[in-house]
Amino acid sequence: MPVLEAKRLCKSFGSVEVLTDIDIAIDDGEFLVLVGPSGCGKSTLLNIIAGLEEESSGDVLIDDRVVNLVAPKDRDIAMVFQSYALYPTMTVAKNITFGMQVRKVPKPEREAALARVAKLLDIAHLLKRKPSQLSGGQRQRVAMGRALVRKPRIFLFDEPLSNLDAKLRVQMRGEIKQLHQRLATTIVYVTHDQTEAMSLATKIAVMSGGRIAQLGPPQELYDRPNCLFVADFIGSPAMNFIEGTIAIRKGVPLFVAQHETSEIALPLDHYEFAKGAAEGRSVTLGVRPEYVTGAGTANKGPRTIRFELAPAIMESNGFDQHVSFDFCGGRLAGRFAARETLAIGTPIDVHMDLSMISLFDTESEERL
Ligand SMILES: Nc1ncnc2c1ncn2[C@@H]1O[C@H](COP(=O)(O)OP(=O)(O)O)[C@@H](O)[C@H]1O
Ligand SMILES: [Mg+2]
Repeated sequence: MPVLEAKRLCKSFGSVEVLTDIDIAIDDGEFLVLVGPSGCGKSTLLNIIAGLEEESSGDVLIDDRVVNLVAPKDRDIAMVFQSYALYPTMTVAKNITFGMQVRKVPKPEREAALARVAKLLDIAHLLKRKPSQLSGGQRQRVAMGRALVRKPRIFLFDEPLSNLDAKLRVQMRGEIKQLHQRLATTIVYVTHDQTEAMSLATKIAVMSGGRIAQLGPPQELYDRPNCLFVADFIGSPAMNFIEGTIAIRKGVPLFVAQHETSEIALPLDHYEFAKGAAEGRSVTLGVRPEYVTGAGTANKGPRTIRFELAPAIMESNGFDQHVSFDFCGGRLAGRFAARETLAIGTPIDVHMDLSMISLFDTESEERL
């Protein structure tokens, strides 16, 4: 039985529809990340789950019970916002326990909960301070502490790390992940950052324009994106896209594209077409940069094709080099070993492993 479900949820503000037919079901202990560009409806969806915003149609269910008419405080949910919304005049301890005090939780119970959370988040030494005396990361922890004292059925997080600098964000990400493992609790987490989504989620819902483009485990979205939007949104550096057509020669389906004056034909006999290979169809071939490599790193399996190309752009990060080539009228990015000697304009062997490609219908943008 799912802990949380959204069924055909729609939301309009006035005449503008911002959520369309949202269907989600998550199990106990799952970490669902809602990810998508700014304005795609993530916060609105989270607020509807929390009961802070009313749906226009559809249902929210918690433990199989429709909660559309249940007040936020009675939904057994705790929420952490991007702006931590701490009370500036209260100490950390008071910020964490204030909600319990309002709900008339007896003092010994409040103190036990505070001690538990302080230990969990490693903030015991900060309890007497005011928010202004804390760093960004510490404030973030206090905001989480306020949600954690409640042991709710579901935690909701709305971009909780957006106000932190890059290094702290990565550190807090690790802590949230550890927290999830330790508490074995159910979390719905909103972010616009696909790296954060990939590293935290047990399940990701990629949202675009108020709809869910794809819902599934991170690796499935990465390996088998069901549309161009998801393919492009997930993964950094981004997937390469090459425009071409499908041809069938001697019974073998091929991806055919024009590179400068010559034709390039890539065999697709291994590709699992969802609806069969339609000859003559305009398609977009997607290949991730890690499958475009040099002599030193190339996986020279049976699906690997070799081209001779000259680097147009090179960027090193110490660990590897991101190298771009002009290819079939567009750009092709690959990842090369840091110590491979390359020069702009000097042709080299580029190996493309076709075993993990994705094909999309250029017009509908759906996976083929
Ligand atoms: N209270 C509101 N009234 C009118 N439009 C709103 C309101 N809240 C959000 N929107 C609009 O709904 C869309 C989705 O917003 P939001 O859920 O905040 O997106 P996200 O969190 O993904 O950035 C946006 O176009 C936003 O302008
Ligand atoms: Mg938002």
